[in-house]
Amino acid sequence: MKTPRSLVRPLVHKLHAYVPGEQPKIKGLIKLNTNENPYPPSPRVLKAVKAAVDGRLRLYPNPTSQVLREKLARLHGCKAENIILGNGSDELLAMAVRAFVEPVGQASRLSPSQNGKKSETGRMPVLRSEKSLVQYFHPSYSLYPVLVDIHGAEKNAVPLNVNFSLPDARELKRGGVWNFNAALTFVTTPNAPSGRGYATAELEKLCRAMKGVVVLDEAYVDFAGENAMKLALKFPHVIVSRTFSKAYSLCFQRVGYFVGHAELIAGLDKIRDSYNVNGLGQVAAAATLDDLRHYRANFREIISTREELSRALTNLGFRVLPSQTNFILAKPPLFAAEEWLQKLRDKKILVRWFRQPEIKDFLRITIGTPVEAEALVRAVKAILR
Ligand SMILES: Cc1ncc(COP(=O)(O)O)c(C=O)c1O
Repeated sequence: MKTPRSLVRPLVHKLHAYVPGEQPKIKGLIKLNTNENPYPPSPRVLKAVKAAVDGRLRLYPNPTSQVLREKLARLHGCKAENIILGNGSDELLAMAVRAFVEPVGQASRLSPSQNGKKSETGRMPVLRSEKSLVQYFHPSYSLYPVLVDIHGAEKNAVPLNVNFSLPDARELKRGGVWNFNAALTFVTTPNAPSGRGYATAELEKLCRAMKGVVVLDEAYVDFAGENAMKLALKFPHVIVSRTFSKAYSLCFQRVGYFVGHAELIAGLDKIRDSYNVNGLGQVAAAATLDDLRHYRANFREIISTREELSRALTNLGFRVLPSQTNFILAKPPLFAAEEWLQKLRDKKILVRWFRQPEIKDFLRITIGTPVEAEALVRAVKAILR
């Protein structure tokens, strides 16, 4: 009899799973750790969802989220065939790896120039190929490496500049580490966890230089000055990823989407689970698109709180990086960032701290309501006293 453990693939044993932010249920806790929107969905959205909760729950939802695709196509000035919906944008990011990247062993079979040749040491070489390569900047969204490992593909994490700006195509060529032929490249724009925004013009230069698929992950773009949607409609190898989670207060419903060339979208659609977006999620997202004015007011409020909080923390000795998102990355004074995490937690304020060397001196703080921001500033003052 085999042990249950031995029934799990060796690759899975080696995986480090993605670590999501905590969702504690502590009374009175101010939760600024997972970039959720502090405001609820609009009353019209809540009404639409409630109205959909009846005997129809027994039916399967529309498999392609067709109503939503059509509404999104109108919003972005493209066709429904340029859009695919996902169970959160996370699902689509995972599907992109599966649709565009060969697992390492598979790619070696596909690369006849190397296949079967012994290396100088006489051993069969481990065959690697750009077809198996997923590339992204570091630091950025920590899910990307996990998705690559699950798929058994290769990672190329290339450092951002020290101030988290994007190295330009010329610098990348000179550096020699970036691979312009990678099967898939993820760019988090605006960047998480730094909050830094990237100009569409610089993203365009990068996209132009790339040969494989480029996914511009715009999870936070509604809080930024610019977006790069036009690049997905201009270049056949560029996809823009969006989500209803952050700006549209729908984390709970899990709805995200990709916009890109119809051929890429058709490829993704082939590997999509039949009913990947739940029915209430489709209803909520469609009602959201009917009430965009409500959300635009909400973005303005969050941006204004962000700027005010950044000023207040700067005055208290924090180094706050400029942000184009609904969070800030801030280096606290006096104590190590990890200690601040605990000190704030003791005061019932939860923020996020990452162990990675480039950002271990910083706290990532989600922008809450003005009242939550004031509570944070009060707590910081008390800790500094
Ligand atoms: C950069 C980035 N992309 C994508 C996502 C995933 O969002 P969702 O799966 O909720 O659409 C997140 C969530 O934290 C994120 O930070």
